[in-house]
Amino acid sequence: MSARNVAPRNIVILTGAGVSAESGVPTFRGPDGLWEGHRVEDVATPEAFARNPALVQRFYDDRRAALSRVEPNAAHRALARLDTEWAAASRGDLLLITQNVDNLHERAGSTRLLHMHGELQRALCTGCGAAPGWQGALSGGPPCPCCGAAKLRPDIVWFGEMPYHMDAIAAAIDACDLFVSIGTSGAVYPAAGFVAWARDAGARTLEINLDPSAGTAMFDEARHGPAGTLVPLWVDEVLGR
Ligand code: OAD
Repeated sequence: MSARNVAPRNIVILTGAGVSAESGVPTFRGPDGLWEGHRVEDVATPEAFARNPALVQRFYDDRRAALSRVEPNAAHRALARLDTEWAAASRGDLLLITQNVDNLHERAGSTRLLHMHGELQRALCTGCGAAPGWQGALSGGPPCPCCGAAKLRPDIVWFGEMPYHMDAIAAAIDACDLFVSIGTSGAVYPAAGFVAWARDAGARTLEINLDPSAGTAMFDEARHGPAGTLVPLWVDEVLGR
């Protein structure tokens, strides 16, 4: 029997903006192609930051402040339940990789979690390389808590920069037998390529998304609808409920 037909042991889950949509966090690729009123190249590239640091700092300061006005939804909570129960049952490894820079997965209780595109609540010092947790604003040039230099930027992976944790992600995908992609358009690499890696590793692949993603044909199975409804149902299935 191939790995595609047996009960999963090692699960890798990839989430994108769609998992937080029902919490009220806007997705990136809305119908107008703008991210909260901005073109991505004006707020999410190193060049944009060099050109207009005040605009970019203000943009992420607003996103960071908005986190206090949103709550995890049923999809985040179901994934946290899977995290707890999968580990308690020693069934295998579980890794949740998120492209999201919000903190809703951890607030729901997920612990086996990697933020591949960085985190709103972290700053990055371009002077000493420290990445301190950060709750307030970065506008105005607060000093780095490690070196004192006023060289903090949002710890967000911008276009043209290398996503975080790629070695750990590659190892988990190589070892997984179920790969699940939730709430992502499949428009941004390398995350959009994970389904192909997982297939090459012999994993079964499942997409859960509001509508078919760019890579939907790559998946063994696709379920289309809101994550807040479909993810809890899928978690129940995996846990044998
Ligand atoms: P996108 O905005 O590109 O895609 C969000 C996906 O979620 C779309 O396919 C929607 O159909 C789907 N969606 C919306 N509401 C949903 C719901 N309630 N339930 C399920 N799915 C829903 O966001 P990402 O794919 O996450 O990168 O974007 C990937 C990366 O592009 C982001 O991490 C960011 C961005 O530029 C960086 O900042 C580096």
